[in-house]
Amino acid sequence: MRMVDLIENKRNGQELTTEEIHFFIEQYTNENIPDYQASALLMAIYFQDMTDRERADLTIAMVESGDQIDLSGIEGIKVDKHSTGGVGDTTTLVLGPLVAACGVPVAKMSGRGLGHTGGTIDKLEAIEGFHVELTTELFTKQVNELKLAVIGQSGNLTPADKKLYALRDVTGTVNSIPLIASSIMSKKIAAGADAIVLDVKTGEGAFMKSVDDARNLARAMVKIGNDLGRHTMAIISDMSQPLGYAIGNALEVQEAIDTLRGKGPADLTELCLVLGSQMVVVGGKAKDLDEARKMLIEVIDNGSALDIFKDFIKSQGGNPAVVDSPELLPQAEFSFEVPSKVSGYVSFIEANEIGTAAMLLGAGRATKESVIDLAVGIVLHKKVGDVVTEGESLATIHANSKNVEEVLEILYKYYEFSKQPSIAPQLIKEIITQ
Ligand code: URA
Ligand code: CA
Repeated sequence: MRMVDLIENKRNGQELTTEEIHFFIEQYTNENIPDYQASALLMAIYFQDMTDRERADLTIAMVESGDQIDLSGIEGIKVDKHSTGGVGDTTTLVLGPLVAACGVPVAKMSGRGLGHTGGTIDKLEAIEGFHVELTTELFTKQVNELKLAVIGQSGNLTPADKKLYALRDVTGTVNSIPLIASSIMSKKIAAGADAIVLDVKTGEGAFMKSVDDARNLARAMVKIGNDLGRHTMAIISDMSQPLGYAIGNALEVQEAIDTLRGKGPADLTELCLVLGSQMVVVGGKAKDLDEARKMLIEVIDNGSALDIFKDFIKSQGGNPAVVDSPELLPQAEFSFEVPSKVSGYVSFIEANEIGTAAMLLGAGRATKESVIDLAVGIVLHKKVGDVVTEGESLATIHANSKNVEEVLEILYKYYEFSKQPSIAPQLIKEIITQ
């Protein structure tokens, strides 16, 4: 097989065979295909697209390029959730205990990563003593007993995707539906998921700015998952303004605890109920979304979701007292209010910019080497649609430095107001089941 033939075939709009796709991924991972040929093929895929069969083959080839996590020792259907990334998105911390309390095993592999705030693991590490270094044995045992465990990312998961993603980044080929969809799905499948629920974000704070693009990506991923025998569903949700009120690591842990107690922000709560319902259905614990939703509300009301969260923290070395005493979480030294300069209605809050402001405070990593400050961040008090009077606080800045001028400037610049009543953006745009 010659790589140049694959490039020419794809350039001419032909379908690549299963063998050709496996050849490309295996040989590229083993460094037998140079970056210039891989780049040319990626660009051909960018313009010529891939059929459903090619997309499934590419996904499996990437899964097989590295370690595959064996979760067969865990009873039940292992459901994983993936979000395409947003600002202040704490859903994983809420959904874990929530669906675990409904009997769905959550065996989660999480990362740190770059961004406005840390990843799920960074957030959990805001809880004193919490660690994610579990042996496979302990991980399996904990999920069987508690239905919930979180472990750090294995070093050799989908190495083909790591190499290709880096190459796409510098060759103008990130933004391709078959390449994004196979990249995301390969990581979920390699991490051992039997079933997958996807939260595809849309809006200014998201990777996919328009609902049309988000829908195309969601459909592509749902198709790949189901073609590969993993029950997969997706929702498209709003990410034009930040989710919930808190943006920051310890602040989001607290927001997750509030939500598990039934006292969380309305949008975060609703998103967790919608995603959680899908997880409970694909996990085989409810016959339909309505029944699943009732179960989720029940485990919030009777406290069992919060109890699982405490047991989970304890089992992974953390101090479960943070649940009832959030002041035990890291606290920033200073706080500053952001008094509104106008009266009216909040008409827009640019999610991406508010996320950047949180990162400037130290809540997220700008580069891999950055050190996160778990205590800092921003808590919004006003969201789109809310009434505000001059002098009322729009948000509180939690900082470990008194120098917050730039952060204040961003908040003032990216909060927009109108004289007429405005309405909050629709949170759940669509549900995609096939
Ligand atoms: N996220 C991924 O994991 N892969 C992509 O290709 C794009 C976003
Ligand atoms: Ca939040």
